[in-house]
Amino acid sequence: MANPSLLILAGDGIGPEVMDVVKRIISWFGDKRDLTFDVSEDLVGGAAYDAHGVPLHDDTMAKAQEVDAVLLGAVGGPNYDDLDFSVKPERGLLRLRKEMDLFANLRPAQCFDALADFSSLKKELIAGLDIMIVRELTSGVYFGEPRGIHVEDNMRVGINTQRYTEAEIERAARAAFELAKKRGNKVCSMEKANVMESGILWRDVVNEVHQADYADVELSHMYADNGAMQLVRAPKQFDVILTDNLFGDILSDCAAMLTGSLGMLPSASLGLPMANGRPKAMYEPVHGSAPDITGQGKANPIACILSFAMALRYSFDQGTEADRLETAIEKVLADGARTGDLMGPEGGTPLSTTEMGDVILAALDASL
Ligand code: IPM
Ligand code: MG
Repeated sequence: MANPSLLILAGDGIGPEVMDVVKRIISWFGDKRDLTFDVSEDLVGGAAYDAHGVPLHDDTMAKAQEVDAVLLGAVGGPNYDDLDFSVKPERGLLRLRKEMDLFANLRPAQCFDALADFSSLKKELIAGLDIMIVRELTSGVYFGEPRGIHVEDNMRVGINTQRYTEAEIERAARAAFELAKKRGNKVCSMEKANVMESGILWRDVVNEVHQADYADVELSHMYADNGAMQLVRAPKQFDVILTDNLFGDILSDCAAMLTGSLGMLPSASLGLPMANGRPKAMYEPVHGSAPDITGQGKANPIACILSFAMALRYSFDQGTEADRLETAIEKVLADGARTGDLMGPEGGTPLSTTEMGDVILAALDASL
């Protein structure tokens, strides 16, 4: 059988730095675990704009549709702030999500024991935290029409539309229920059914899917504003949180920070199964391009490495190897390995991006 294929889109800012470490990890699995990937690379975001005048070239889009999984670093940066909206780096990312139809965005917020002190919350509130946010990723106000800035009666008006079809809500809900069955068997769905019709429909459809096929999963509903409050008040009450595109964007940043550093959080964006049975998939760290530390070797590569671990698990059915990689990361953190974002008040010398890669590779070697 042919090797599974990966398209790496390192993107902008710290994307290429953290991706360099991930490439070494990918090679390690080829050398030591006989798990070889056919890796190709291309441009996205500002890097693609610089080369082609667009944040995602059509050829790159076509490649992304063909590979078994895409690994993305980060997009955006201050050089591109003044670009026209249609060619901003973020548009490249949104085009990938939309055209690959990656409707289920999985954002785990897990607290590593060694880092429990880094949270802005009290340690006992987050020790052992393990939440999975399922964010709908291809619809809602990010893509709804009409949109734009118009002039009405000599006044500018900005318009975006929150729009969800039953089918869109249903497939996101199914993804959340399926995940819950493999975890704590609980789903909390968040919307604003108190003020939005799309929220009323969301709640109805989630209830219908639940009654029809997942009655054994514990389901609750929360208004998204209360959800935000509960996430910082008592985050361990949650197992799987199901929510729409915009609320999911906000709630997932909040959940991520509970764990101490955005530099630790991976994500998977999954679509429908392809002909080979694997889902359309893109994996990316939740952190952005971090222009403030770009090029200084300070970035934490762990979120990007954990995103590759999610690829092993969700695209390639390599749960044991994903566990191996996650355990290696837990081990180096327990041994005190820290990049700058993980330095506590006790100080010490932070590892560079490459050095963090070195210790993780050593821990992988030791796992054999
Ligand atoms: C995210 C990011 C993106 C989003 C941006 C970069 C377009 O914030 O993945 O959470 O808003 O979805
Ligand atoms: Mg975001």
